[in-house]
Amino acid sequence: MIDIPKKHKELFELIGETADSIDQQVYVVGGYVRDYYLNKPITEITDIDFVTVGSGIHLAQEIARKLKNNKISIFKQFGTAQIKHKKLDLEFVGARKESYRRDSRKPIVEDGTLQDDQLRRDLTINALSWCLNPGSFGVLHDPFGGIKDLQDKVVRTPIDPEKTFDDDPLRMMRAIRFATQLHFRIDDDTMNAIKKMAPRLSIISKERILDELNKIVMTPQPSFGFKLLHETGLLKEFFPEMVNLLGVDEKNGQRHKDNFWHTLEVLDNVAEAGGDLWLRWAAIMHDIAKPPTKRFDNHVGWTFHGHDALGAKWTPKIFRRLGLPLDDRMKYVQKLVRLHLRPIALVSDEVSDSAIRRLIYEAGNEIDDLMALCRADITSKNEWKVKKFQNNFDRVEKRIQEVEEIDEMRNWKNPVSGQDIMDVLNTGPGPVIGRVKDRIKDAILDGEIPNNHEAAHQYLLQIKDQYL
Ligand code: CTP
Repeated sequence: MIDIPKKHKELFELIGETADSIDQQVYVVGGYVRDYYLNKPITEITDIDFVTVGSGIHLAQEIARKLKNNKISIFKQFGTAQIKHKKLDLEFVGARKESYRRDSRKPIVEDGTLQDDQLRRDLTINALSWCLNPGSFGVLHDPFGGIKDLQDKVVRTPIDPEKTFDDDPLRMMRAIRFATQLHFRIDDDTMNAIKKMAPRLSIISKERILDELNKIVMTPQPSFGFKLLHETGLLKEFFPEMVNLLGVDEKNGQRHKDNFWHTLEVLDNVAEAGGDLWLRWAAIMHDIAKPPTKRFDNHVGWTFHGHDALGAKWTPKIFRRLGLPLDDRMKYVQKLVRLHLRPIALVSDEVSDSAIRRLIYEAGNEIDDLMALCRADITSKNEWKVKKFQNNFDRVEKRIQEVEEIDEMRNWKNPVSGQDIMDVLNTGPGPVIGRVKDRIKDAILDGEIPNNHEAAHQYLLQIKDQYL
């Protein structure tokens, strides 16, 4: 007997009884059943999928009536209905045979049996279902060996993978996403079909691709998924800049590191440290512009001068193409990409307070995340080197803290306002006000004057003649 939370069991029983009363079979299918056998906390599940042999809409209407719930949405053209019940989204669909035309996402839908419905699903582990009708309550239907695949930790399609992926090419991304989330391997035939059909991803919208990609990015070890995305050829379909990071050149016996695998190590490091989606994106993007800035210099070897600034310049373009947001979250990633080399330049003891102050000013509230990215960027295999670099960053962080305590530069605001400057210069708005403001800002950042109104005002009186 299935062992599920009481609130789900009572709901499932009501759904089964309702289906019986209108002579329909109903099954719970997909993520709920899969996660149950994976021993995942199903109490946290919010979306539950049901399939019925007959009309999904009619069944949902009957259930909504029994639940005295009017939060039902009907999608006639898809033959589906959704009930919002407490915190749950209950999705009902009539079992069907479904096939997509090659040139469009619009399916041709016909009514079908439970078996037909399970056949058209993406993966064996997602095609498990339990009957909910009284008498057969909790009986498992597993026509494709989904339970065995869960035990063997394999991702596999129920039918010929080429057919499954042809029906909906997004499933190639889903296969990799599930493999990454569950740490499963992808079955050889399924893997070969993805390699063959990767170009078909072009008919899928960037939003759906990004949704899967971000789920991969948010796993504990995202490199697992990116490796698969690269091996199958999917990555170059939507993110060619990242694939361009691959490869190592050698000149005069000197090699640079492979920036693709390095980026993935940085991403894993950020993930391990609990970084959120945007810090993870900063890790993905931090070296993205290395290929066009690569040079070989006989004295210093390989260099990538300016890849930080160019990477920041590329960030909005790449975000737009991938369907990522262009708001403050993009600006955050762009800032970290632009500044990711700066803390390394500050490790020497000779570095002045003013250089530290400038970095705090430029990074603002992102200074801690910037330091986290820099630490993740240390991917040397030499333990002694790693220790040395970490110690260097400890020192930079300590100095940041000291300067911050005295100067409070993090959310810096010029202590003198534009109006103050206009009053002192006895003039109206104009570009000169901006220039004077910058001069005061530089004097504070360079440590010429303290960061307060009194000192800044005195300084303004001193320099004002130069601007009259
Ligand atoms: N499905 C499919 N092909 C897709 C998307 C979904 O066959 N491209 C089927 C799968 O059987 C899946 C079910 O529809 O289990 C529900 O899809 P979804 O809610 O997206 O995924 P879940 O499996 O519930 O898993 P998760 O919520 O973790 O994404």
